[in-house]
Amino acid sequence: MPSTACRLLALVPLAASVSASALYSTYSFNPLEHLTGIAPYFEPQDPPYMEPFLEKLGNKTNIDWAKTPGLNFLADWEPPVSEAETSLLTRVGRLEATQLGVDLDFRYPDLKKPKQVWTSSAERTFKSAQSLVRGLEAEDNDIKVVTVYESEESGADSLTPYKACPAYSSSAGSDQSEEYQTKFASPIAARFNDLASEFNFTTNDVFGMMQLCGYETVIRGRSPFCDLDLFTPDDWLGWEYSEDVRYHYNVGYGLPVAGYVGMPWVNATASLLLNSSSEEDLYVSFTHRELPPMVVVALGLFNNSAFAAGSGNINDTMPLDRINYRRAWKTSHVLPFLSNIAIERFNCSGSYGYDDDEYYRILVNSSPQDLPGCADGPGTMCSRDAFGKYIQDRVAMFDGFSEQCGVDYGNSTDVLSIYTTDSAQEDDGQTVGKRYDARLF
Ligand SMILES: *[C@@H]1O[C@H](CO)[C@@H](O)[C@H](O)[C@H]1NC(C)=O
Ligand SMILES: *[C@@H]1O[C@H](CO)[C@@H](O)[C@H](O)[C@H]1NC(C)=O
Ligand SMILES: *[C@@H]1O[C@H](CO)[C@@H](O)[C@H](O)[C@H]1NC(C)=O
Ligand SMILES: *[C@@H]1O[C@H](CO)[C@@H](O)[C@H](O)[C@H]1NC(C)=O
Ligand SMILES: *[C@@H]1O[C@H](CO)[C@@H](O)[C@H](O)[C@H]1NC(C)=O
Ligand SMILES: *[C@@H]1O[C@H](CO)[C@@H](O)[C@H](O)[C@H]1NC(C)=O
Ligand SMILES: *[C@@H]1O[C@H](CO)[C@@H](O)[C@H](O)[C@H]1NC(C)=O
Ligand SMILES: *[C@@H]1O[C@H](CO)[C@@H](O)[C@H](O)[C@H]1NC(C)=O
Repeated sequence: MPSTACRLLALVPLAASVSASALYSTYSFNPLEHLTGIAPYFEPQDPPYMEPFLEKLGNKTNIDWAKTPGLNFLADWEPPVSEAETSLLTRVGRLEATQLGVDLDFRYPDLKKPKQVWTSSAERTFKSAQSLVRGLEAEDNDIKVVTVYESEESGADSLTPYKACPAYSSSAGSDQSEEYQTKFASPIAARFNDLASEFNFTTNDVFGMMQLCGYETVIRGRSPFCDLDLFTPDDWLGWEYSEDVRYHYNVGYGLPVAGYVGMPWVNATASLLLNSSSEEDLYVSFTHRELPPMVVVALGLFNNSAFAAGSGNINDTMPLDRINYRRAWKTSHVLPFLSNIAIERFNCSGSYGYDDDEYYRILVNSSPQDLPGCADGPGTMCSRDAFGKYIQDRVAMFDGFSEQCGVDYGNSTDVLSIYTTDSAQEDDGQTVGKRYDARLF
C-alpha cells in the first residue's frame, strides 16, 4: 500500500492462468528467479525441448552416469512425469490462485466484493478463477464465474483476443531465440560432451535440462538441474535472455500487432475506472499468459527504448549475439508464476502536497509501475486528467485491432465489452462453493 492518505477506490486485475509456486533456494544466485515465462510447463513449448531430452536419456542406457563426474546424479534420477505428479502441478496452481484471492481480500478490505469474476473458457483458467473466488468470497456461492468463450472469431471481445488475430503466431520468436540459444548453450553442450561424449549433448538438450530445473522444482520442491555446479549463474542469464528474445518477438515490442491485441482490455478497463459510477469496485479476469505482455506493450511499460537516447528500431535493443543486460524487457518480471496486471483508482483527498483528486496506478505482479510521463501524483500515481490523457494517446496509437490483425471474418469488433454487456448482470455464470463436496471418509 502507498504511504499516503490515498484510499483505493477500485481495482481491475488481470491474472494469467496459473502454474507454480514461489520457491526457495539456499543459493545466493537463484535460478528460479530467472526462469522467465516458462512457468506453465504443461503448455506445449514450440519447439519442445524437455521431452526429447528425456526420451534421449531413456534411450541411452549404455552410459554409466555414476562414473561421470558432474553428471553422476543422472545415474539414479527419475523424470518427474507420473500422473500423480502432473496432478500435483495442477494442485499447486490452484493453491496459488486461492492465495491470490486471499491476498486481494487482505490488501483491499474496504472494496465491495465483486458479483462475478470473468475467465477465458479453457479448463485451466476456469479452475484458476474458481480457486481465486474460493479465496476471495466471504460465504459460499457469493461470487459467480463467468466464462468468456475462446473463439477464433470473437474479434477483440474476449479475454483471448490473440486467438482471433491471424497476425499472431504462437511460434513467433522461436527463430530469433534459437539464434542466441545456440550462442549461449554451445559451450555448455561442449562442456557436457567432454564429460560424456556418448550422449552427444546438443544445445536443445541443454535447453531441456534447464527447463527441468523449474519443472522438477515445482513438483518435488527441488531439482539437481538447478545446481549451480551444473549450470552457472552466467548460464542462467544466457537462458533468461534467450527467452526474453522469444517473448520480445512473440508477445512483446518486437511483434507489431502486440499493442493492438492488448489495447481492448486496457481501454475497457480504463473506461470502467474513469467512470466514477461503475457498478463494481473490483473487476477480476483470468486469461492465458499470452495476453498480459501484450497489455504491457499497449500501456508502454518495460519499453527498452523509453530511456534510450534517440529512438532507433526496437528490435535493435534485443541483439541476438549478446545480452543487453540493461534491458527493461525482462520476462522474469513480466511473466512469473500467476502473473497479474492491475489498474487501481485512489481517492487522495487530504494528501499533503497533492491536489484532492482521484489518482490512478498500474501494478504488474503487485509492484507499482511508472507510466512514462504520467507521474503527477504521490509515488507512481497519475492524476485523473493525466491518466485519461495517457490512455487516449495509447488508444490512438493502437486503435484498429481487426484491421491490424487482418481478420478474415466479417463480424469482428475492436471493442472488449464483456464488462458492460447485460450478460454480466444477467443470471450468467456459475457460483463457487468454498469447498468441494466433501464426503465423510
Ligand atoms: C529413442 O529410441 C527410439 C527407438 O529406437 C527412436 O525411435 C527415437 O527416435 C529415439 N529418440 C531419441 C530422442 O533419440
Ligand atoms: C461472429 O460470428 C461467429 C459465428 O456465428 C461467432 O461465433 C462470433 O462470436 C461472432 N463474433 C462477434 C464479435 O460477434
Ligand atoms: C549428434 O547429434 C546431432 C544432432 O542431433 C547429429 O546431427 C549428429 O550426427 C550426432 N553426432 C553423433 C556422433 O551421433
Ligand atoms: C521487429 O521484428 C519483427 C520480426 O521480424 C518484425 O515483424 C517487426 O516489424 C520488427 N519491428 C520493427 C520496428 O522493425
Ligand atoms: C458509467 O457507468 C454507468 C453504470 O454502469 C453506466 O450507466 C454509464 O453509461 C457509464 N458511463 C460511461 C461514460 O461509460
Ligand atoms: C517505446 O519507447 C520509444 C522511445 O520513447 C517510443 O518511441 C515508442 O513509441 C515506445 N513504444 C511503444 C509501443 O510504446
Ligand atoms: C474522497 O475522500 C473525501 C475525504 O474522505 C470524501 O469527502 C470524498 O467524498 C471522497 N470522494 C470519493 C469519490 O469517494
Ligand atoms: C474504448 O472504450 C470506450 C468505452 O467502452 C468505447 O466507447 C470505445 O469505442 C473504445 N475504443 C477502442 C478503440 O477500443
